[in-house]
Amino acid sequence: MAFPRHRLRRLRQNEPLRRMVRETRLSRADLIAPFFVTGGKGQRQAIESMPGQYRLSVDLLVKEAAEVQQLGIPAVILFGIPDRKDERGTSAYDPDGVVQRAIRALKEQVPGLLVITDVCIDEYTSHGHCGLVQDGKILNDATLECLQAMARTHAQAGADMVAPSDMMDGRVGAIRDELDKAGFVDLPIMAYAAKFASCFYAPFREAADSSPKFGDRQSYQMDPANVREALREIDADIEEGADIVMVKPALPFLDIIAAARAHMRLPLAAYQVSGEYSMIKAAARAGWLDEERAVMESLLSIKRAGADMILSYFAKDAARLLGD
Ligand code: PBG
Repeated sequence: MAFPRHRLRRLRQNEPLRRMVRETRLSRADLIAPFFVTGGKGQRQAIESMPGQYRLSVDLLVKEAAEVQQLGIPAVILFGIPDRKDERGTSAYDPDGVVQRAIRALKEQVPGLLVITDVCIDEYTSHGHCGLVQDGKILNDATLECLQAMARTHAQAGADMVAPSDMMDGRVGAIRDELDKAGFVDLPIMAYAAKFASCFYAPFREAADSSPKFGDRQSYQMDPANVREALREIDADIEEGADIVMVKPALPFLDIIAAARAHMRLPLAAYQVSGEYSMIKAAARAGWLDEERAVMESLLSIKRAGADMILSYFAKDAARLLGD
């Protein structure tokens, strides 16, 4: 590979050549668009820390989702902003809860669009934790029942896939058992397998008003320092029946995505989380970064690292830029 016989610049001379030797391609089919659903009608509440993102009532969500489908994006993932929160997050598994209603409306009015649902009670608990709390501790096994009920009501409402994001041990298996028992043997589970205790969720927590009211999430979400443990989490979720595994956040954890890709054969998802979105938005607003290029480069990097699909608040923007 010695100069001057080899000149790597030969294949970079023009766009047709560059296009021909391009190793990674991003496609609209890789994208999943997250949405925040709230009660009421005609609601479109701006989320201050995530410019361009809104809490939408079901009627307006349906309109947005139809646009998403028109843009060639195959799936949305839903997060609920309930009217009331309590200790046990009961509105998370109310058959008539906000997400359950949204699923029914989307399946009816935007057929063909895949509806994935986030399964975790933190948006619904008064304390903001992803599990039931007793004496200041986050209970693992008792939480599984809530997650089972939540996943089942989503399935009954017509969800195409459920995505547990709580990081309780054993939840994938518990949800698989529950779905099978209820007759949903064909409903896939996308497990947030390696979810790190990250500062990059902050804008999401503002959007969902889901910051923990005491303590933090470090007793259940992963230490950002750990890669071997991420692979153990992935192994556990596969063993319990996960169909797709996820790494989250994405850009600060590209090495985890690459390690996960090399480690296993399931489809791999990565979540470009709220803080990743807000950072790009803020820098672009200040005139410090070209937003379109920052979006496309970060998504491409996540794909290059090994993700098959990417959950991103930029999904619609990226789909517009991508064309086919
Ligand atoms: C938990 C959940 C969170 C996110 C997705 N699912 C918040 C958290 O763990 O605090 C964050 C997503 C994002 O930041 O975009 N229900």
